[in-house]
Amino acid sequence: MPSELLSKARRYEEQARREAESELPAFHLTGGSGWINDPNGFATYRGEVHLFFQYYPYDVCWGPMHWGHAKTKDFIHWDFLPAALAPDREYDKDGCFSGGAVEMPDGRHLLLYTGVRKDVKENGGIREVQTQCAAIGDGIDYEKISENPVLTAADLPEGGSEHDFRDPKIWMEDGIYYVIAGNRNKFGRGEVLLFASRDALHWQRLGTVLSCTEEGGPMWECPDLFVLDGKAVLLHSALEMRPSAPEFHPGNGTACHIGQLDRETWHFTEEALQTVDYGLDFYAPQTVLAPDGRRIMIAWMQNWDSSRFTPKNLHFFGQMTFPRELHIRYNRLCQWPVREIEDCRCNSVFLKDLPVTEEKSFPEIHGRVLDLFLHVRPGKGEQYRRFTVKLACGGGFYTEISCFPEQSIIKIDRTQSGFPHDIAHVREFPVTFRDSEISLRLLLDRYSFELFVNGGEQAASSTLYTPLTAEELLFSADGEVLLTAEKYDLIITESGDVP
Ligand code: FRU
Repeated sequence: MPSELLSKARRYEEQARREAESELPAFHLTGGSGWINDPNGFATYRGEVHLFFQYYPYDVCWGPMHWGHAKTKDFIHWDFLPAALAPDREYDKDGCFSGGAVEMPDGRHLLLYTGVRKDVKENGGIREVQTQCAAIGDGIDYEKISENPVLTAADLPEGGSEHDFRDPKIWMEDGIYYVIAGNRNKFGRGEVLLFASRDALHWQRLGTVLSCTEEGGPMWECPDLFVLDGKAVLLHSALEMRPSAPEFHPGNGTACHIGQLDRETWHFTEEALQTVDYGLDFYAPQTVLAPDGRRIMIAWMQNWDSSRFTPKNLHFFGQMTFPRELHIRYNRLCQWPVREIEDCRCNSVFLKDLPVTEEKSFPEIHGRVLDLFLHVRPGKGEQYRRFTVKLACGGGFYTEISCFPEQSIIKIDRTQSGFPHDIAHVREFPVTFRDSEISLRLLLDRYSFELFVNGGEQAASSTLYTPLTAEELLFSADGEVLLTAEKYDLIITESGDVP
């Protein structure tokens, strides 16, 4: 039986989603209304992909965390299911924080999440305790188990922090459950711990997969660990990172470690380290092994530092990135939008080798829900120094993406994208120009863009709250380039049929 708190959320979201429907992005998942942050429990269950999310249904700000719930067959069409968890027990009364999900051998669905409890200490201060808790269900309703919590501070290495122990990601291998979770260690730094269990109730700590250096920040959140193309891959999201150009900027960021996992010591040996997404809004990615074997990643397309701004005119805040297929190439993580998006394309336009110098538009290319491929190569004469595409232009607003072959960088700039706050609006990141050529793919969806460079060698995501009437695209270069553009409108029909 759902608790009163969960039933209230379920009743509320049903009504609120109807009101917010017309405001939502076309193909990016939101909570339907209210606030969302991290993706949770991204996993297959009975042949479908389920995604839960950190959720506060009642407002567009973070509040006592619930788990919202949706499922999909194609990563484009999502069916909302009733909220799955509410903070309704003593051990999670201050929030059901992030976690994972797995299908149990008997066909039930196991959710493992962080329960947050705040107690008032004798001196009046607050003691926050984070423990890992389980709920079991049938894909719609979940019952928190009576043995909760199943992992507590007693399971931590000496000196581990009871109030920074969270975000368990669970999976099963050869009949054994594995969980990785983030912790703050005795040196005050983030680390990732690994546990194993035969019944998901009694856990044994296998080891510390990786601990961070001083630059890596005091807490590693939302870890994920998997094998991809023969390499072990560890993802985490970090708080208060120190900058180390060109990969990491200060504050919240995401990291991808590529290397080997020793299955005796459970220690991770790093061969390469990179940022996951070089844009302004990307945090807490989680992956699923899809039924067809693809490793697919989704993330919160937002960042804690920038999420202090929420647009006043919308009834939802927070959206997920579009799901991305992952590969490792030359020890780098490559990301590409899931191929299912190709079924939503229509109104194709193909323009080849158009000379671009002064700023110009092409009337065939405009809109805010697009899949756009641009290939840039030098024109005749001297080498070009910059190529810029401005998107969501109109009424004085625009968002710029500029490529600089001499410096081998791309710069994204959303200063003029409708934000009334002085949060970060500019990022630069290294890319490879081959014979001064570069390929860009842009997914535009009303309030965001996702950029993929050179077939997915780099990705960069950003939200923008420019009015939707700003839908022009402008192209310019310093020097001459020859631009090849392939554009598709994206139309998401309810049935999934091609329009
Ligand atoms: C990451 C995070 C998690 C936590 C959740 C709370 O964005 O801070 O560590 O579980 O958000 O909503």
